[in-house]
Amino acid sequence: MQVNIDRIRTHIEAIARFTATPGEGSTRTSYSPQFKEAYDYMRDKGQALGLSVRIDAVGNLRMRLPGFDETASAVVIGSHLDTVVNGGDFDGVLGVVCGLEVLSVLVESGFTPARPIELISFVEEEGISFRCPLLGSKAATGQLTAEELAALRTDDGKSFIDAARTFGLDPVWIARDRIKPTDVQAMLELHIEQGAVLETEQLAVGVVDRIAGSENYRVTLTGRANHAGTTPMGLRRDALCAAAEMISGVEAAAQAAQSPHTVATVGRIECAPNAANVIPGQVEFSIDIRDAHETNIVAAATAIRERIQAIAARRGVGCGIELTAKSAPQALAGNIADRIAAIARALDIPHRRMHSGALHDTAMMGRIADAGMIFVPSRSGISHSPDEWTDYDDIKKGANVLLGVVAELAHDTPIEESRP
Ligand code: HGY
Ligand code: MN
Ligand code: MN
Repeated sequence: MQVNIDRIRTHIEAIARFTATPGEGSTRTSYSPQFKEAYDYMRDKGQALGLSVRIDAVGNLRMRLPGFDETASAVVIGSHLDTVVNGGDFDGVLGVVCGLEVLSVLVESGFTPARPIELISFVEEEGISFRCPLLGSKAATGQLTAEELAALRTDDGKSFIDAARTFGLDPVWIARDRIKPTDVQAMLELHIEQGAVLETEQLAVGVVDRIAGSENYRVTLTGRANHAGTTPMGLRRDALCAAAEMISGVEAAAQAAQSPHTVATVGRIECAPNAANVIPGQVEFSIDIRDAHETNIVAAATAIRERIQAIAARRGVGCGIELTAKSAPQALAGNIADRIAAIARALDIPHRRMHSGALHDTAMMGRIADAGMIFVPSRSGISHSPDEWTDYDDIKKGANVLLGVVAELAHDTPIEESRP
């Protein structure tokens, strides 16, 4: 059995057209019209294949192929269709489309799995709208309480619950749609690497053994807006200059960290009143801190918090630091990684074990079941950008590895029996 790479390309290029920023990358935020177009496209393809298709209480799209034993735990293939703003065409979409392709090949080959196979496109993986990355997989696996869901807001104050209801959902019922450990035999995600390791080492497949965790913060600074021409430098409480010093401190703290995996990013900033002749009185900025190990995240967050508080005190600027989201790092199942590596070997595909610096829904599923990830190379390591690209030759290899592992797991093939 082989995947049909032309069909994969057709789906990826079709979904890339569902963007709010045509010509400037993929912008498909949760519950947006473009997001609905992508769901409708996938639903039509799934129904044409005879899959049962539904959207759960928070907006995860769930497409299921029954198995001989419908009561058995399912093999889950997951990823996401939401994007960052002006993002790439492959982040998330690749995994959902290749999951559909795996199901298509299995159905067309007359393969009836011993156990169900479910393709899930998780909502709000990027966390761009509600500041909660991995929202769909966290909620579906019981890692977000109803209260936490109710507290989620966009930056302009729109509630997650209202947005979900406008999309036709009612998140209060998510407990009914809970994915329990007994529901999942294993979970797999095929994803672009979003880094340059595979390309540099000229490898086609990455076998992910660990997914980084993160802590996300919102920093709010209150200085004093004043006249840019009449206020002497010594009398200013300039919130933007304070932010500038703090942001350099975020970078310096990550650079000084013991761990080579520690990274910290200020990706979003707002300044008020944002007028050229007014000293900024109010600034808000984000901080995204990551590492492969929890202790390193905590160490970096502590160092960054202390720097920010010292700068605020010295400059007489009010300062609030709010933890807006947190995802612990997750080691992935060794037995699944071994299967992925064994299939790559059997298909003569050069591969290596590696960490993921990006967050993924697989980390949340890895809390409740054996989970594994397959990476394919990103050209020049670029992602979250319109320049994101992965060669279709590499996609074909990664998708064939996904096909092989899913077919084995769905048929309970013991790992030792499945090797030519
Ligand atoms: O931000 C991330 O790591 C992922 O792309 N959501
Ligand atoms: Mn992604
Ligand atoms: Mn992403």
